[in-house]
Amino acid sequence: MAKFLVDKSGPLFGEVEISGSKNAVLPIMAASILTEDKCEITDVPALRDVDVMCKLLQSVGAKVTEDYSENSIFIETEKIIAEEAPYELVKRMRASILVMGPLLARTGKARISLPGGCAIGARPIELHLKGFRILGAKIVEGHGYVEATVDKLMGGKIYLDFPSVGATENIMMAATLAEGVTIIENAAEEPEIVDLANFLNKMGAKIKGAGTDTIKIEGVQDLHGTKHAVIPDRIETGTFMVAAAMTRGNILIKNVVPDHVKPVIAKLVECGVEIEDGDDGMRVRGDLRPLIATDIKTMPYPGFPTDMQSLFMSFLTTVEGTSVVIETVFENRYMHVGELNRMGANIKVEGKSALIQGKRELQGAQVISTDLRAGAALVLAGLMAEGTTEVSEIYHIERGYSFFMEKLRGLGAKITRIED
Ligand code: EPZ
Repeated sequence: MAKFLVDKSGPLFGEVEISGSKNAVLPIMAASILTEDKCEITDVPALRDVDVMCKLLQSVGAKVTEDYSENSIFIETEKIIAEEAPYELVKRMRASILVMGPLLARTGKARISLPGGCAIGARPIELHLKGFRILGAKIVEGHGYVEATVDKLMGGKIYLDFPSVGATENIMMAATLAEGVTIIENAAEEPEIVDLANFLNKMGAKIKGAGTDTIKIEGVQDLHGTKHAVIPDRIETGTFMVAAAMTRGNILIKNVVPDHVKPVIAKLVECGVEIEDGDDGMRVRGDLRPLIATDIKTMPYPGFPTDMQSLFMSFLTTVEGTSVVIETVFENRYMHVGELNRMGANIKVEGKSALIQGKRELQGAQVISTDLRAGAALVLAGLMAEGTTEVSEIYHIERGYSFFMEKLRGLGAKITRIED
């Protein structure tokens, strides 16, 4: 198993380029099977999750070719040969569930292994299934699988009890080929939803309201191929913003959409970080004044992103003062707390809240990456810790961050990768 060895690094300096968004490219790849035409997707990040999605699409009949030099992939699904997302792929990547809507819309059938839970929570899919039922699908669950069948999807009105990103995406994709109009109320508003809607509309779909809490989809007969550049990854952006703040560095982050990271900007500025957005990118400086504590509450977009919670917590262990973090989106997203405390942090979890006593001298330790963002948070903590931090289970990190180690090294971080 591979590990990262991280040593105390000085303030990070230099430039880093953000890659395409993992959470935008995965639903967009799934949406490409809604047409038999070829789709070209550019600015694709080099991630294991993208590789798994390629395998999944190939297993249902897509022809997938990659041009790594251009960060492009081409997907052409002339014929669906199987309407199934098998367990061995779904267990590796929950986002496999995102082929359910497209398969149902294209063939009238989808059989998906239930994704099961993961380190951060149970992650049920009942809101996805509620949407498909309202669009007319018959849903049968059993033996760890869920199967949806329908002759023809019919538009309907769906209220999401929680603004689930995946459910909004799955239902929106299915509704593009339904008969009639579909309305999704209390929809997720994340930028990745907008990027997916833009891709679908370029394929000939008729979607209005993406990015608000009410999305209207007018069904069409069929969709055609298109070319689309994926938006930059706002969580990778936030990760490097926090890395600059935490190491009291001064970095320029390129290929950023400032609007997508407003909550992270606001909270870092509250802590005393200097952030200026210019034509050549976003400059983040943690070296201008002593940094202080703040409180964080994770919320669906446009609130503070849950995916930034562990990263920001790592940063808060190094600033003066006491901070409170409240995680409202996932029920078990504090797995990194025990690991940070092993590095000398002082964090107490009480239900959904965590209390962080700041200004701790962190010490290097052997720690485990429990999920993608927790792993990144531990690497950043290692940059500030006396001695060497050994981060294991780093496949989590490599699922969702492209060239993470190389990008950090380019900013002066002392990090190496070893095979155990
Ligand atoms: C997406 O997951 C992201 N993944 C997650 O990013 C992100 O943390 C999450 O949205 C929230 O922003 C991708 O886009 C591939 P949800 P998703 O459905 O769609 C509950 C990362 O680090 N829920 O919005 O699975 C669920 O249990 C990953 O890149 C139901 O109860 O998130 C959770 O508590 C981690 N029933 C909450 O909603 C449902 O049917 C948010 O889940 C669906 C969800």
